[in-house]
Amino acid sequence: METELRFGVIGWGYWGPKIARNLDSLPDAAVTLVADMDPNRVASVSLPNPALRLSVDPAEALTSDVDAVVIATPVRTHYQLAKQALLAGKHVLVEKPLTDNLAQAEELTELAERMGLTLMVGHTFEYSPAVNEVRSLVRAGELGRIYCIETERLNLGLFRNDTDVIWDLAPHDISILNYTLAEEPIQARVSAHGNLRSPIPDNAHIDLVYASGTRAHIHVSWMHPTKVRRVTLIGDQRMVVYDDTNPAEMVRIFNSGADVSADPEVSYRFGAITIPHIEWMEPLRLECEDFANAIRLGTPPRASSRTGVAVVRVLEAAQESRREDGAWVAIDRATVKAGVSRETEPR
Ligand SMILES: NC(=O)c1ccc[n+]([C@@H]2O[C@H](COP(=O)([O-])OP(=O)(O)OC[C@H]3O[C@@H](n4cnc5c(N)ncnc54)[C@H](O)[C@@H]3O)[C@@H](O)[C@H]2O)c1
Repeated sequence: METELRFGVIGWGYWGPKIARNLDSLPDAAVTLVADMDPNRVASVSLPNPALRLSVDPAEALTSDVDAVVIATPVRTHYQLAKQALLAGKHVLVEKPLTDNLAQAEELTELAERMGLTLMVGHTFEYSPAVNEVRSLVRAGELGRIYCIETERLNLGLFRNDTDVIWDLAPHDISILNYTLAEEPIQARVSAHGNLRSPIPDNAHIDLVYASGTRAHIHVSWMHPTKVRRVTLIGDQRMVVYDDTNPAEMVRIFNSGADVSADPEVSYRFGAITIPHIEWMEPLRLECEDFANAIRLGTPPRASSRTGVAVVRVLEAAQESRREDGAWVAIDRATVKAGVSRETEPR
């Protein structure tokens, strides 16, 4: 039998309870402390563990005997809480995005590595069996060369007070793209606007360019009548649609395409649509298992803090592009500060 891992959860809003229930149900693991600065949220905590301690002081989670801390609080609080937790010797799972700026994301990553602690980020979709199916198809070359990818993450709300739609929703799509392509974008530009509470964007379009020539377009919105969570990949051999809202047919592979046979003639291929069987498991459950295993084995989790840094790097470039009226921004992996090129069109 393994030694029991004790987890503290900071933040009992929408997402904290979901992580806590998953961690608490793992073998040889228990959530032993929950902290939220809002007493009403603390009063709403219910978990089966009779020894559970509750607090309105997040510092209590850091001074207690927990082995690891989950930070499920607004993004502006991630850096301070994660840093304090690491300095107190705790392994940490921070919700996405890792931080609200690149320098702090890098600092936390270096601190965790120096202290030999697990620092993981809540990129839940990297644990989705459907995303992993798409990734396998891409990596096996089933789609051929990827021309472009479109992602849509749209719904009415949830409007957040502490952040904008780019920092709230796009981390999911950027992490899916980074994870699926094994390539990080080299340039980004953004068109975003706030319909309801200008200037805070509630609708945004992010264009990304990759060194391989692939292009991606991310559309995120809090101002849309229906829930859309779709990723469409266009390859020169096949096309794939991953629709997270369609459990029966989450991934569809289209054996279709277009070719230039004799310029300017275009010929079309319309082949079968294949729907692979996907063994479904709850992504959050898999994420929590990975966190516990990473702590026990001392190996990096899939959604390591380095993947968190990579996502924040793109978010920061998007933010820079907004400040520069939608100019293309180079995403420089070597430096913290992204360079801006107003005129240059991407390759
Ligand atoms: N991985 C996912 O799919 C996913 C889904 C939803 C939210 N999230 C992330 O989870 C985090 C929390 O989101 P949410 O929807 O639960 O937000 P929320 O506003 O519903 O809850 C946040 C909670 O944190 C508490 N809090 C704020 N500052 C605190 C502090 N300094 N110390 C202790 N408690 C504090 C608040 O009182 C509140 O109860 C965000 O980073 C968000 O991006 C991730």
